[in-house]
Amino acid sequence: MNMPAKPNVYAPVITIDGPSGAGKGTICQNLANKLGFGLLDSGALYRLTALAVVQQGIDIANQEAVAKIALALDIQFETSEQGVQALLAGKDVSRDIRLEETGMNASVVAAYEPVREALLERQRAFQQLPGLVADGRDMGTTVFPNAVLKVFLTASAEERANRRYKQLIERGESANLRAQLKDILARDEADSSRASSPLKAAEDAIVIDSTTMPIQAVLDEIMLLVKQRITA
Ligand code: C5P
Repeated sequence: MNMPAKPNVYAPVITIDGPSGAGKGTICQNLANKLGFGLLDSGALYRLTALAVVQQGIDIANQEAVAKIALALDIQFETSEQGVQALLAGKDVSRDIRLEETGMNASVVAAYEPVREALLERQRAFQQLPGLVADGRDMGTTVFPNAVLKVFLTASAEERANRRYKQLIERGESANLRAQLKDILARDEADSSRASSPLKAAEDAIVIDSTTMPIQAVLDEIMLLVKQRITA
């Protein structure tokens, strides 16, 4: 998923927005594979910005300096059997960007209007044939307002914390359920209360609450919508 210069307005876009831990990543990856579409993990761009800021010793409170970093980000995404690898200045940082600390810093830089502005065209450039699945918080509201299908995927904070906890334990990492819930609630608060592109469902989005739904049921529901809107 490297970045071409200009979007192709004829390429259909499916946006999947929602809070942290709602299962967007897995759903988007599956959908993109099934449809043969490209994938935009917009959260990775905010995470890469946050990581570059820390690596370069920039003051994270300095909005203009952080926006400069976002504008000049030297990044690449490479797809391999292990999934999508994120490279920052040629170095694989896939693990570093998934750290909890990077996620919290990503939430901080994502609240800066100049940073969102700096990343906007980069994100839009992912709109290419045969189509795009875009994962984020403001894909349907701000980045791709003309998307052919907009989904807002959510789940209760407790269920999202529980899923994250299980994921970490499965990966052999140490985890604490309470700490996960605290982190999820803090991230929800930061993402929903910011002035610039806050987390919210687009007016024309279909809301899916996955609290009691297995992944496959969510996928089936979205595939039905895709058939109605795109492939029918
Ligand atoms: O989705 P992910 O957890 O990787 O995103 C990291 C952070 O980036 C989120 O907590 C959110 O603050 C921010 N983000 C955003 N807009 C997006 C995607 C992510 O503000 N479209």
